[in-house]
Amino acid sequence: MPLMTTKPMFDLAYDGGFAVGAFNVNNMEITQGIVTACAAEQAPLILQISKGARKYANIRYLKHIIDAAVEEHPELPIAIHCDHGDTLELIQACIRDGYTSVMIDGSHHPYEENVRLTRAVVEAAHAAGVVVEAELGQLGGIEEDVVGLDAAAYEKNLAKFLTDPQQAADFAQRTGIDSLAVAIGTSHGAYKFKSEARLAFDRVAEIMRTCPGLPLVLHGSSSVPQELIDLVNQYGGSMPNAKGVPEDQLAMAVRKYGVCKVNIDTDLRLALTAKIREVFATKPAEFDPRHYLGPARDAIVELVRRKLHMLNCAGQAAKIVAHWKKLGEPRPAFYGG
Ligand code: G3H
Ligand code: 13P
Ligand code: ZN
Repeated sequence: MPLMTTKPMFDLAYDGGFAVGAFNVNNMEITQGIVTACAAEQAPLILQISKGARKYANIRYLKHIIDAAVEEHPELPIAIHCDHGDTLELIQACIRDGYTSVMIDGSHHPYEENVRLTRAVVEAAHAAGVVVEAELGQLGGIEEDVVGLDAAAYEKNLAKFLTDPQQAADFAQRTGIDSLAVAIGTSHGAYKFKSEARLAFDRVAEIMRTCPGLPLVLHGSSSVPQELIDLVNQYGGSMPNAKGVPEDQLAMAVRKYGVCKVNIDTDLRLALTAKIREVFATKPAEFDPRHYLGPARDAIVELVRRKLHMLNCAGQAAKIVAHWKKLGEPRPAFYGG
């Protein structure tokens, strides 16, 4: 039953030149698409649940869907992660619900408040055998209730928002976090860049120097594939100027710079939406949900398989499970300790 924390995954990813895909789940088809792709590629996976997803799907339903995936694929290393947790209360609920990893995002708070909140979360999570990701610096784009800066304003002031390497070292040391989400130019949503898309590799290299061995996380890492935008626009949508992070830059961050987790949500939404739009436009008489949600699920499988190669994590599942067994990580308390 390799439901695990992200530790066995990141132990191997950090020096192994690969990263684990963290994909947002909101319903059954999205979850099945991701898991089918990871099974086909024998890749580790992090299924992440936002506060909005907990509310939309009702966490009980979502949890049972994920438990079914774990049951179906005993060979796959799987972590269940809270994406952008914002309060200690929410994190405690996630721990009770059987998550193996949580993110506390205090990046919008003043620094000392971020330290205090993150440390409190680390204490609660570690006591339950759950690992913690936190964030320093600021991303652009839209993220749940928090509307970040638009692409133009973000790019103009980028230096101000990037993670400060010295502060990152102080933060990691004072909070005891297991991984750190860094701001290096990525942003949430489908409109990430107005001008040239470029990640701050010098910044991530500097963070690696000040925080040796600390697994780094990239949020806002959808690449917004042009062919999906074209499909959306061709079949009645309107997404002008959508732009993501080029996949070659993500591949470089993963292979060279200690990035162990890469968050992808927008691309899943685009794949699903483009396919549903196509079915509705080309088969206007269709009204059986299985006949549009099924192809949409297949589109997610195809997208995620491509991502797994970009992240260089295809074929890594068995090694991670072996390492997890060696570590002897306890079964999450939710599942009977
Ligand atoms: O970073 C945010 C993720 O894309 C989740 O989005 O809060 O709308 O579920 P959501
Ligand atoms: P995207 O919007 O680029 O997919 O980022 C998702 C994310 O960071 C979830 O936490
Ligand atoms: Zn995010």
